[in-house]
Amino acid sequence: MKESVQQAIGDQIREEFYSAYFYLAAAGYFESVSLTGFADWMRQQGREEITHALKFFDFLLDRGSRGVLQAIAQPPHEFTSPLDVFSQALEHERLVTARINDLYALTVREQDYPAQVLLQWFITEQVEEEKTTGQLVEELRMIGDNSSALLLLNNTAAARRTATPTPQKE
Ligand SMILES: [Fe+2]
Ligand SMILES: [Fe+2]
Repeated sequence: MKESVQQAIGDQIREEFYSAYFYLAAAGYFESVSLTGFADWMRQQGREEITHALKFFDFLLDRGSRGVLQAIAQPPHEFTSPLDVFSQALEHERLVTARINDLYALTVREQDYPAQVLLQWFITEQVEEEKTTGQLVEELRMIGDNSSALLLLNNTAAARRTATPTPQKE
């Protein structure tokens, strides 16, 4: 494997773990304000991010690379409202999408075909991530400061997320 691709995948492993950290921090916030449905949503999301990191890690190992693990940055821990959390999540997912796209472009330049196949899964996954998070941002905007509507969304969000099919894992 080309050094540049190994390095870029190493960077992405760090970003996927950061994503997991971010969602876990968000889960902590929601628990602290007794919105346990949203907390569960964030926890599920965090777990999924760990599977993303492992997909890249296993890919490196399968291709004979050591996969040097990098330091993970501290996630935010101050949130002002559910809308603030989901807006930050959406912004973060958009950033991840841009990173995945850049990574794909690199593998095209470097003619790394197996990495392109792996990244196609992530490209599809990012469409789903932005869609589900964006949907919740919109719904929270509509809710405004209506607390009964907020509680209703809190109660249904986690179950709705579990029911959402994600692209094939392996
Ligand atoms: Fe991810
Ligand atoms: Fe994600």
